[in-house]
Amino acid sequence: MNFNPEEVNKKIKRVIITEEEIKQKIAEAGKLISEKYEGKPLLLVSILKGAFVFMADLCRAVTIPCEIGFMCAQSYYNGTSSSGIVNITMDLKQDVSNYHVVIVEDIIDTGRTLNDVMKLLKAREPLSLEIVTLLDKPDRRVVKLDADMPLFTIPDLYVIGYGLDCGELYRNLPYIAEYDI
Ligand code: IMP
Ligand code: MG
Repeated sequence: MNFNPEEVNKKIKRVIITEEEIKQKIAEAGKLISEKYEGKPLLLVSILKGAFVFMADLCRAVTIPCEIGFMCAQSYYNGTSSSGIVNITMDLKQDVSNYHVVIVEDIIDTGRTLNDVMKLLKAREPLSLEIVTLLDKPDRRVVKLDADMPLFTIPDLYVIGYGLDCGELYRNLPYIAEYDI
């Protein structure tokens, strides 16, 4: 909880994806999703908190009727490997078996959290299940997990902004920046 503007701002090393670049990619993704799911019951699902900004912009770029859902999930690990147990602290209200589900994620890093969430959602038998992620860090992956639609692929950097945090700060930045570790 450091609210000293000078200290907080000096950790923003450099902008790696601008507001304009994000806007453009989201418009394209929204169009693709709208075409693909036209005439189908669509549910966009975000895992809180990181993806809340991306969800807000992506859902407004989707031009077909759709529902929105949020989950809060925590994964547990045995050392470095995922136990496969996900603790859902807030679950979806919708019964996913009635929907084509698109997970809207902020970033895929090791892939563990989303891998566990995918297992859980698959067991509930949605009509289909896909992943859209704003950012993908494939170099860091420890489980096999691919996004169906990664908007930006980035190198192994710690990034902040546009919903992504460091110690709960920086989520309100309108761009993606490298954090000065
Ligand atoms: P996982 O390692 O793929 O399970 O990633 C879990 C979560 O870690 C993501 O959903 C993010 O919330 C967070 N995370 C991973 N990399 C970064 C980063 O570079 N910046 C901020 N959060 C990150
Ligand atoms: Mg996340």
